[in-house]
Amino acid sequence: MKTSIALIGFMGAGKTAVGKALAKKLNRKFVDLDYLIKHKVGKPIPEIFQQDGEDAFRELEIEVAKEVSRDKNLVIACGGGIVLNKINIDRLREKSIIVYLTASPRILLKRILSGEEERPVLKGSDKASEIGELLKFRKPFYERAADIKINTSKLDINSVVEQIIRKLKEDEGFHS
Ligand code: S3P
Repeated sequence: MKTSIALIGFMGAGKTAVGKALAKKLNRKFVDLDYLIKHKVGKPIPEIFQQDGEDAFRELEIEVAKEVSRDKNLVIACGGGIVLNKINIDRLREKSIIVYLTASPRILLKRILSGEEERPVLKGSDKASEIGELLKFRKPFYERAADIKINTSKLDINSVVEQIIRKLKEDEGFHS
């Protein structure tokens, strides 16, 4: 029986904001994998990328995903690249329903640019085409991993939370 919810999707899809609100609504603990990585290493994500490289970051991501996938009753916000290593999804799937948040490239760009967070995987100046390329590559990974898919482009956080809860109720494998 699955009692956790793992949120996946591209940067700017709203995983963290939605995850916090969903956890509150369902009375579950919220965990953010990027936050766990940051605390494990003692430095921010962009510094990990810069000093240790993306591969080192992905190894840390695998470690924290393994740790949280053992727990029950969590809402887990994953980093946008979690799907790149299949082992992460295989482990998370054992106790979590995987919710894929999508948004149009235009909305993703808008949210990424308006956010404070630095995104080290978007290195160049032409963010729109970088997002387009990355999305094209990653989309099949997200699609394959998803149990539930929600387009957040036109929704506010509470509406996304409501939709997730509605779809979870229809999912026989989920125990609320
Ligand atoms: C990444 C997304 C980031 C963070 C890291 C790499 C990615 O998380 O894990 O910068 O590869 O898409 P968010 O999706 O929360 O921005």
